[in-house]
Amino acid sequence: MSSSSLRLHRSRLLHCLRDPGESQDHTAYQYYSDGALVVGDGKIIAAGNASDLLEQWSAKAEIVDHDGKLIIPGLIDCHVHYPQVDAIASYGNQLLDWLERYTFPEESKFSDVEKCRATAEFFVDELLRNGTTSALVFASVHPQSVNSIFETAQRHSMRLAAGKVLMDRNCPPSLQDTAESAYRDSRELLERWHGQDRLHYAITPRFAPTCSDQQLSLAGQLATEFPDALVHTHLAENVSEVAWVAELFPAARSYLDVYKRFELLRERSVFAHCIHLDDIDRQNLASAGGAVAFCPTSNLFLGSGLFDLRKYRENNIRIGLGTDVGGGTSFSLFRTMSEAYKVLQMQQQSMPGVRGLYLATLGAAESLYIDQYVGNFLPGKEADFVVLDHRATPLLKRRLEVCKGIEEELFVQMMLSDDRSVYATYVLGECAYARETLVG
Ligand code: GUN
Ligand code: ZN
Repeated sequence: MSSSSLRLHRSRLLHCLRDPGESQDHTAYQYYSDGALVVGDGKIIAAGNASDLLEQWSAKAEIVDHDGKLIIPGLIDCHVHYPQVDAIASYGNQLLDWLERYTFPEESKFSDVEKCRATAEFFVDELLRNGTTSALVFASVHPQSVNSIFETAQRHSMRLAAGKVLMDRNCPPSLQDTAESAYRDSRELLERWHGQDRLHYAITPRFAPTCSDQQLSLAGQLATEFPDALVHTHLAENVSEVAWVAELFPAARSYLDVYKRFELLRERSVFAHCIHLDDIDRQNLASAGGAVAFCPTSNLFLGSGLFDLRKYRENNIRIGLGTDVGGGTSFSLFRTMSEAYKVLQMQQQSMPGVRGLYLATLGAAESLYIDQYVGNFLPGKEADFVVLDHRATPLLKRRLEVCKGIEEELFVQMMLSDDRSVYATYVLGECAYARETLVG
């Protein structure tokens, strides 16, 4: 390793070791009030107290002093649609109307490769500006939309998963593929991109209502042929959607059972929303090793319902947070944590700040099966991290000054932060985004 690639970042440091649960479990995270992160060749070499690590590394490593800011692992968005950037904040409809009125017309523009490239570039910049270093991304039905998001993520060295949307019915003709073309195009894209650098392919049926039996069957075949690819879809988001699925698939016991019948329920399957499932579904999800993306800003914005986090975690189901832009209203995983807290409050459930952090870092990495690479600062993992500014706004500065410890501080950050708190974002140990402080 060349000494120029060896850096010691001195800062306050916080990361999770496991799910802290609903109460503050102090052993589930590590916090160093004067900490250091030693990074070499894009990987974590050590994380700990500055005094210990300086003694060991100061002669060899370049020292980067972050002046009392807080370093956390790079945030991970478990469900987001890049072609919906221009449909974010569209007024007044619930899911099925919102799809028809805003989303499908917007996604049909991605037949144009220039539109794909320009939007992918904006999207990746927006992720990094919000401290998001990994994401599981819906592209559009067009293969070129997948190439564009992967090309852009690769240029930024990001660990990112994406896939071509499969939809061969119940949508505008301009957005329809066929069961066979969907299989062929997905397979070609998967073989081109899956495992390249930090990229993963996700087989992406949009949701059961827009996929014929034959399309779901071929998607399941592809998933069986490539067991280490992800499967990514929507599930039980909205009451009218669930009723429609029951009409379309009368033989299935439930919405989840539709995916199960077509071999799409397995390890590495990630289901967005899961608001309207029952105990049997949760048991099936748990025993198959499927994961859920909890998307609170979207669930509130589209009036979809309240996700019952406690019941899923009682079944040991993997959960990560998703922004679900453009049904979701913010790229910020801090905003997403804050809405998650409120969704849980409505159900007499609790979410300490450190659990919010877990759901946006290690929990998300576990959900996407990338926790051997990212999610916290264990030695050997990839050095994706965010430097948070505790003086980002006048209100944050004032409120954080009277905090009595890291747990209170983290909760305040969770409720009040957004992209303004992200001072810098590092990908593989290199600064991928930096800004000036707004205050002080
Ligand atoms: N269900 C099917 N497609 C979509 C989508 O684009 N967004 C959301 N939130 N739900 C969906
Ligand atoms: Zn979605």
